[in-house]
Amino acid sequence: MNVKAPGSSRIGVLTSGGDAPGMNATIRAIYRAAYELDIEVIGIRRGFTGLIEGDFFLMERSHVANIIHLGGTTLGTSRTEEFKTIDGRKKATENIQNIGIDALLIIGGDGSFRGASLFSDETGIPTIGIPGSIDNDIPGTDFSIGFDTAINTALEAIDKIRDTAISHGRLFFVEVMGRSSDLIAIESGIAGGAEYLVLPGDKNAIINLCTQITNAFSAGKRYAIVVVAEGERPGYSFSIAEEVYNKTSIESRVVILGHIQRGGSPTARDRVLAAKLGVSAVYAYTKGHAGVMVGELRRSIALTPFDKVIVGRQKPEQNIVRLAKILTK
Ligand code: F6P
Repeated sequence: MNVKAPGSSRIGVLTSGGDAPGMNATIRAIYRAAYELDIEVIGIRRGFTGLIEGDFFLMERSHVANIIHLGGTTLGTSRTEEFKTIDGRKKATENIQNIGIDALLIIGGDGSFRGASLFSDETGIPTIGIPGSIDNDIPGTDFSIGFDTAINTALEAIDKIRDTAISHGRLFFVEVMGRSSDLIAIESGIAGGAEYLVLPGDKNAIINLCTQITNAFSAGKRYAIVVVAEGERPGYSFSIAEEVYNKTSIESRVVILGHIQRGGSPTARDRVLAAKLGVSAVYAYTKGHAGVMVGELRRSIALTPFDKVIVGRQKPEQNIVRLAKILTK
């Protein structure tokens, strides 16, 4: 790779944590905004792992050509324990200094920003975050890049399952991703007209579900779709189905949507959000901002310091939870 020319500016970009549709559109937006401003972009492969191993390349226009519609991340990603160690961060700092990177742009979720925040405090290397996660649970932004695509993927699956559920007169449990966030379940459940919703935080969920299903099936209902938020126990829908069978004698089928929710071409909403946040992150760097995440709050770009972003996962707003309670039971 060429040596940085004196007086020129270089930013590094990496994607970290679970990939999310729209990450490529973000990389493209960053590159194109930087290009306009004569800033070089160094691509860092495989997230923090690549940062530690010095897996860098100088980005050119061809690297961002025809990637706007692609799911996944062309830079690759990782979840690495090594970056949590001082030793790992020291290696990363040396690599950054050797190559002359002036600032780091990190596209990822709250776990990635935790590492980024530590790194930025320790080294003083300006670091800017961009929220990319299907879970939509990152404080400081109304939406994270990838969420809209993920709920549409889940919705498409729910619609298809409904066809076979109606045909066979069957109860289905459809488990969606999101960890502790529940928002994929809530929004795909509302949009897909789910008959019931199971959120892990609700201790009475199963008992209420059994009562409601028994009543509905006794009254002649022949099928139902229950959307389950995976919570901290992915796959636990199988034990829910068993418990419901033991209590009601109603048979069911279980579908775990899993990682298909992370793939696929990003929706227009995710691409536009990626464009806004990618370009704004580059401008935030040129204005001297550091240690912040670039998000969008009520249609305006908002810069939130990392220490306010990593306080914990953002819970769904009460309004949408209430709506789900009215419509999915
Ligand atoms: O955080 C994004 C996410 O897709 C969660 O919804 C899910 O629980 C988790 O990542 C899965 O992680 P992994 O790819 O390590 O299985």
